Amino acid sequence: MNNNKIILYLVIVACVAPFILFSAAFAQDDIKQLQHDIFVNRERPAAVFPHTLHSDALGIDCLECHHIYKNGENVWDESELSDCTGCHSLKADGKKMSAMRAFHTNCKNCHLKENKGPVTCGECHPKKK
Ligand code: HEC
Ligand code: HEC
Ligand code: HEC
Ligand code: HEC
Repeated sequence: MNNNKIILYLVIVACVAPFILFSAAFAQDDIKQLQHDIFVNRERPAAVFPHTLHSDALGIDCLECHHIYKNGENVWDESELSDCTGCHSLKADGKKMSAMRAFHTNCKNCHLKENKGPVTCGECHPKKK
Protein backbone atom coordinates (compact mmCIF):
# COMPACT_ATOMS: atom_id res chain seq x y z
CA MET A 1 0.00 0.00 0.00
CA ASN A 2 1.25 3.52 -0.72
CA ASN A 3 0.82 6.22 1.93
CA ASN A 4 -2.40 7.65 0.52
CA LYS A 5 -4.03 4.25 0.54
CA ILE A 6 -2.93 3.62 4.11
CA ILE A 7 -4.36 6.96 5.22
CA LEU A 8 -7.62 6.27 3.40
CA TYR A 9 -7.78 2.85 5.05
CA LEU A 10 -7.19 4.29 8.51
CA VAL A 11 -9.85 6.94 7.98
CA ILE A 12 -12.38 4.28 6.99
CA VAL A 13 -11.51 2.09 9.97
CA ALA A 14 -11.71 5.07 12.32
CA CYS A 15 -15.16 6.00 10.99
CA VAL A 16 -16.67 2.54 10.95
CA ALA A 17 -15.21 0.90 14.06
CA PRO A 18 -17.15 2.91 16.68
CA PHE A 19 -20.44 2.01 15.01
CA ILE A 20 -19.64 -1.70 14.98
CA LEU A 21 -18.46 -1.66 18.60
CA PHE A 22 -21.30 0.56 19.70
CA SER A 23 -24.06 -1.43 18.04
CA ALA A 24 -22.79 -4.75 19.40
CA ALA A 25 -22.55 -3.41 22.94
CA PHE A 26 -25.78 -1.46 22.69
CA ALA A 27 -27.85 -4.41 21.50
CA GLN A 28 -27.43 -6.36 24.73
CA ASP A 29 -26.98 -3.48 27.18
CA ASP A 30 -30.32 -2.18 26.09
CA ILE A 31 -32.25 -5.27 27.21
CA LYS A 32 -33.95 -4.74 30.56
CA GLN A 33 -37.12 -6.68 29.93
CA LEU A 34 -38.60 -9.13 27.47
CA GLN A 35 -41.94 -8.70 25.79
CA HIS A 36 -42.47 -10.84 22.75
CA ASP A 37 -44.95 -10.11 20.01
CA ILE A 38 -45.88 -13.75 19.57
CA PHE A 39 -47.84 -13.60 22.84
CA VAL A 40 -50.73 -11.69 21.33
CA ASN A 41 -53.12 -11.77 24.27
CA ARG A 42 -50.66 -11.32 27.10
CA GLU A 43 -51.62 -12.69 30.50
CA ARG A 44 -48.69 -11.20 32.38
CA PRO A 45 -46.73 -7.94 32.20
CA ALA A 46 -43.38 -8.12 30.37
CA ALA A 47 -40.71 -10.13 32.18
CA VAL A 48 -37.75 -8.29 33.70
CA PHE A 49 -34.44 -9.44 32.30
CA PRO A 50 -31.27 -7.44 32.89
CA HIS A 51 -29.08 -8.89 30.11
CA THR A 52 -25.83 -7.21 31.11
CA LEU A 53 -26.16 -8.40 34.71
CA HIS A 54 -26.30 -11.97 33.43
CA SER A 55 -23.78 -11.84 30.59
CA ASP A 56 -21.24 -9.44 32.13
CA ALA A 57 -21.60 -9.00 35.92
CA LEU A 58 -22.46 -12.65 36.60
CA GLY A 59 -20.25 -13.76 33.70
CA ILE A 60 -22.62 -16.52 32.56
CA ASP A 61 -21.50 -18.25 29.36
CA CYS A 62 -23.52 -17.06 26.36
CA LEU A 63 -24.17 -20.69 25.44
CA GLU A 64 -26.09 -21.28 28.68
CA CYS A 65 -28.96 -19.37 27.09
CA HIS A 66 -28.22 -18.96 23.38
CA HIS A 67 -28.04 -21.96 21.09
CA ILE A 68 -28.17 -23.18 17.56
CA TYR A 69 -27.78 -26.93 17.47
CA LYS A 70 -25.95 -28.50 14.54
CA ASN A 71 -25.43 -32.25 14.78
CA GLY A 72 -26.28 -32.07 18.46
CA GLU A 73 -23.60 -29.45 19.11
CA ASN A 74 -24.30 -25.88 20.18
CA VAL A 75 -22.58 -23.72 17.57
CA TRP A 76 -24.17 -20.36 18.49
CA ASP A 77 -22.03 -17.25 18.18
CA GLU A 78 -22.90 -13.57 18.21
CA SER A 79 -23.43 -13.41 14.46
CA GLU A 80 -26.29 -15.92 14.67
CA LEU A 81 -29.94 -15.63 15.56
CA SER A 82 -30.39 -14.63 19.20
CA ASP A 83 -34.15 -14.12 19.30
CA CYS A 84 -35.57 -17.12 21.14
CA THR A 85 -38.94 -16.75 19.47
CA GLY A 86 -37.25 -17.00 16.08
CA CYS A 87 -37.32 -20.76 16.74
CA HIS A 88 -39.58 -21.38 19.74
CA SER A 89 -43.18 -20.69 18.71
CA LEU A 90 -46.40 -20.44 20.67
CA LYS A 91 -46.85 -24.20 20.41
CA ALA A 92 -44.20 -26.85 20.92
CA ASP A 93 -42.84 -28.35 17.69
CA GLY A 94 -41.12 -31.72 18.01
CA LYS A 95 -38.14 -31.35 20.35
CA LYS A 96 -38.53 -27.59 20.35
CA MET A 97 -40.54 -26.60 23.40
CA SER A 98 -43.04 -23.76 23.23
CA ALA A 99 -41.67 -20.24 23.70
CA MET A 100 -43.16 -19.80 27.16
CA ARG A 101 -41.76 -23.11 28.32
CA ALA A 102 -38.37 -22.39 26.76
CA PHE A 103 -38.11 -19.13 28.72
CA HIS A 104 -39.43 -20.57 31.96
CA THR A 105 -37.17 -23.61 31.73
CA ASN A 106 -34.08 -21.58 30.93
CA CYS A 107 -34.65 -18.83 33.50
CA LYS A 108 -36.25 -20.67 36.40
CA ASN A 109 -34.09 -23.80 36.30
CA CYS A 110 -30.93 -21.79 36.74
CA HIS A 111 -32.36 -19.60 39.49
CA LEU A 112 -33.52 -22.71 41.34
CA LYS A 113 -30.20 -24.45 40.81
CA GLU A 114 -28.18 -21.41 41.95
CA ASN A 115 -30.68 -20.60 44.68
CA LYS A 116 -30.43 -16.99 43.45
CA GLY A 117 -32.63 -14.85 41.25
CA PRO A 118 -36.44 -14.68 41.09
CA VAL A 119 -38.61 -17.81 40.91
CA THR A 120 -42.13 -16.50 41.57
CA CYS A 121 -44.45 -15.16 38.89
CA GLY A 122 -44.72 -11.69 40.40
CA GLU A 123 -40.97 -11.22 40.73
CA CYS A 124 -40.36 -11.85 37.03
CA HIS A 125 -43.61 -10.31 35.79
CA PRO A 126 -44.01 -7.33 38.14
CA LYS A 127 -47.12 -5.20 37.80
CA LYS A 128 -46.41 -1.88 36.14
CA LYS A 129 -46.18 0.93 38.66
C1 HEC B 1 -29.04 -15.73 31.08
C2 HEC B 1 -29.28 -15.91 29.68
C3 HEC B 1 -28.41 -15.17 28.68
C4 HEC B 1 -27.02 -15.08 28.69
C5 HEC B 1 -26.02 -15.63 29.66
C6 HEC B 1 -26.70 -14.31 27.50
N1 HEC B 1 -27.85 -13.96 26.83
FE1 HEC B 1 -27.96 -12.82 25.17
N2 HEC B 1 -29.99 -12.81 25.29
C7 HEC B 1 -30.72 -13.56 26.18
C8 HEC B 1 -32.13 -13.35 25.94
C9 HEC B 1 -33.26 -14.02 26.70
C10 HEC B 1 -32.20 -12.43 24.88
C11 HEC B 1 -33.46 -11.88 24.24
C12 HEC B 1 -33.84 -12.83 23.15
C13 HEC B 1 -35.20 -12.62 22.65
O1 HEC B 1 -35.64 -11.46 22.58
O2 HEC B 1 -35.87 -13.62 22.30
C14 HEC B 1 -30.84 -12.12 24.47
C15 HEC B 1 -30.49 -11.28 23.42
C16 HEC B 1 -29.21 -11.15 22.93
C17 HEC B 1 -28.86 -10.43 21.73
C18 HEC B 1 -29.82 -9.72 20.80
C19 HEC B 1 -30.02 -8.31 21.22
C20 HEC B 1 -31.09 -7.60 20.40
O3 HEC B 1 -31.63 -6.62 20.90
O4 HEC B 1 -31.40 -8.04 19.29
C21 HEC B 1 -27.50 -10.54 21.57
C22 HEC B 1 -26.65 -9.94 20.46
C23 HEC B 1 -27.02 -11.33 22.68
N3 HEC B 1 -28.08 -11.69 23.49
C24 HEC B 1 -25.70 -11.67 22.87
C25 HEC B 1 -25.20 -12.34 23.98
C26 HEC B 1 -23.79 -12.60 24.23
C27 HEC B 1 -22.65 -12.21 23.30
C28 HEC B 1 -23.71 -13.26 25.42
C29 HEC B 1 -22.48 -13.73 26.16
C30 HEC B 1 -21.46 -12.73 26.41
C31 HEC B 1 -25.07 -13.41 25.92
N4 HEC B 1 -25.94 -12.85 25.01
C32 HEC B 1 -25.41 -14.01 27.11
C33 HEC B 1 -30.23 -14.38 27.17
C34 HEC B 1 -28.90 -14.48 27.52
C1 HEC C 1 -32.03 -21.66 16.03
C2 HEC C 1 -33.21 -22.07 16.76
C3 HEC C 1 -33.26 -21.81 18.25
C4 HEC C 1 -33.08 -20.63 18.92
C5 HEC C 1 -32.72 -19.27 18.33
C6 HEC C 1 -33.33 -20.91 20.30
N1 HEC C 1 -33.64 -22.23 20.47
FE1 HEC C 1 -33.99 -23.17 22.25
N2 HEC C 1 -34.03 -24.97 21.29
C7 HEC C 1 -34.00 -25.15 19.92
C8 HEC C 1 -34.09 -26.57 19.63
C9 HEC C 1 -34.09 -27.21 18.24
C10 HEC C 1 -34.17 -27.24 20.87
C11 HEC C 1 -34.26 -28.75 21.13
C12 HEC C 1 -32.87 -29.29 21.26
C13 HEC C 1 -32.85 -30.76 21.44
O1 HEC C 1 -33.41 -31.23 22.44
O2 HEC C 1 -32.28 -31.44 20.58
C14 HEC C 1 -34.13 -26.19 21.91
C15 HEC C 1 -34.16 -26.45 23.27
C16 HEC C 1 -34.29 -25.48 24.23
C17 HEC C 1 -34.41 -25.75 25.65
C18 HEC C 1 -34.37 -27.14 26.30
C19 HEC C 1 -33.03 -27.38 26.95
C20 HEC C 1 -31.86 -27.27 26.00
O3 HEC C 1 -31.05 -26.33 26.16
O4 HEC C 1 -31.74 -28.09 25.08
C21 HEC C 1 -34.55 -24.55 26.27
C22 HEC C 1 -34.73 -24.30 27.76
C23 HEC C 1 -34.47 -23.51 25.25
N3 HEC C 1 -34.32 -24.11 24.03
C24 HEC C 1 -34.55 -22.15 25.48
C25 HEC C 1 -34.17 -21.17 24.54
C26 HEC C 1 -33.96 -19.76 24.84
C27 HEC C 1 -34.14 -19.14 26.19
C28 HEC C 1 -33.56 -19.15 23.68
C29 HEC C 1 -33.12 -17.72 23.47
C30 HEC C 1 -32.08 -17.20 24.33
C31 HEC C 1 -33.56 -20.18 22.64
N4 HEC C 1 -33.94 -21.38 23.21
C32 HEC C 1 -33.23 -19.97 21.31
C33 HEC C 1 -33.88 -24.15 18.98
C34 HEC C 1 -33.61 -22.83 19.23
C1 HEC D 1 -27.35 -19.79 34.08
C2 HEC D 1 -28.04 -19.11 35.16
C3 HEC D 1 -29.13 -18.09 34.89
C4 HEC D 1 -30.02 -18.05 33.84
C5 HEC D 1 -30.14 -18.98 32.67
C6 HEC D 1 -30.89 -16.90 34.09
N1 HEC D 1 -30.52 -16.28 35.26
FE1 HEC D 1 -31.44 -14.65 36.09
N2 HEC D 1 -30.09 -14.65 37.59
C7 HEC D 1 -29.11 -15.61 37.79
C8 HEC D 1 -28.43 -15.34 39.05
C9 HEC D 1 -27.27 -16.17 39.64
C10 HEC D 1 -29.05 -14.22 39.61
C11 HEC D 1 -28.77 -13.56 40.97
C12 HEC D 1 -27.94 -12.33 40.88
C13 HEC D 1 -27.64 -11.82 42.28
O1 HEC D 1 -28.57 -11.74 43.08
O2 HEC D 1 -26.50 -11.51 42.51
C14 HEC D 1 -30.11 -13.80 38.68
C15 HEC D 1 -30.93 -12.71 38.86
C16 HEC D 1 -32.01 -12.38 38.05
C17 HEC D 1 -32.92 -11.26 38.30
C18 HEC D 1 -32.83 -10.27 39.45
C19 HEC D 1 -31.97 -9.13 39.03
C20 HEC D 1 -31.70 -8.16 40.13
O3 HEC D 1 -31.53 -6.98 39.80
O4 HEC D 1 -31.63 -8.56 41.30
C21 HEC D 1 -33.86 -11.28 37.29
C22 HEC D 1 -35.01 -10.32 37.11
C23 HEC D 1 -33.53 -12.41 36.43
N3 HEC D 1 -32.40 -13.04 36.92
C24 HEC D 1 -34.26 -12.76 35.33
C25 HEC D 1 -33.91 -13.81 34.47
C26 HEC D 1 -34.67 -14.17 33.28
C27 HEC D 1 -35.94 -13.51 32.82
C28 HEC D 1 -34.00 -15.21 32.71
C29 HEC D 1 -34.33 -15.94 31.43
C30 HEC D 1 -34.46 -15.16 30.21
C31 HEC D 1 -32.84 -15.51 33.54
N4 HEC D 1 -32.82 -14.64 34.59
C32 HEC D 1 -31.93 -16.52 33.27
C33 HEC D 1 -28.79 -16.65 36.96
C34 HEC D 1 -29.45 -16.97 35.78
C1 HEC E 1 -37.46 -16.37 36.12
C2 HEC E 1 -38.41 -15.49 35.51
C3 HEC E 1 -39.82 -15.97 35.30
C4 HEC E 1 -40.67 -16.53 36.23
C5 HEC E 1 -40.38 -16.92 37.67
C6 HEC E 1 -41.94 -16.66 35.58
N1 HEC E 1 -41.87 -16.20 34.29
FE1 HEC E 1 -43.38 -16.17 32.94
N2 HEC E 1 -42.09 -15.55 31.48
C7 HEC E 1 -40.77 -15.23 31.69
C8 HEC E 1 -40.19 -14.81 30.44
C9 HEC E 1 -38.76 -14.37 30.24
C10 HEC E 1 -41.23 -14.87 29.48
C11 HEC E 1 -41.15 -14.49 27.98
C12 HEC E 1 -41.01 -13.01 27.81
C13 HEC E 1 -42.31 -12.24 27.84
O1 HEC E 1 -42.80 -11.92 28.95
O2 HEC E 1 -42.84 -11.95 26.77
C14 HEC E 1 -42.40 -15.34 30.16
C15 HEC E 1 -43.64 -15.52 29.57
C16 HEC E 1 -44.79 -15.86 30.25
C17 HEC E 1 -46.11 -15.96 29.64
C18 HEC E 1 -46.43 -15.73 28.16
C19 HEC E 1 -46.72 -14.27 27.91
C20 HEC E 1 -48.07 -13.83 28.42
O3 HEC E 1 -48.11 -12.90 29.27
O4 HEC E 1 -49.10 -14.36 27.98
C21 HEC E 1 -47.00 -16.28 30.64
C22 HEC E 1 -48.50 -16.48 30.52
C23 HEC E 1 -46.23 -16.40 31.86
N3 HEC E 1 -44.88 -16.14 31.59
C24 HEC E 1 -46.76 -16.71 33.10
C25 HEC E 1 -46.02 -16.96 34.23
C26 HEC E 1 -46.60 -17.47 35.48
C27 HEC E 1 -48.09 -17.75 35.72
C28 HEC E 1 -45.56 -17.62 36.35
C29 HEC E 1 -45.58 -18.20 37.76
C30 HEC E 1 -46.11 -19.53 37.90
C31 HEC E 1 -44.34 -17.18 35.64
N4 HEC E 1 -44.68 -16.79 34.38
C32 HEC E 1 -43.07 -17.17 36.20
C33 HEC E 1 -40.09 -15.28 32.89
C34 HEC E 1 -40.59 -15.79 34.08
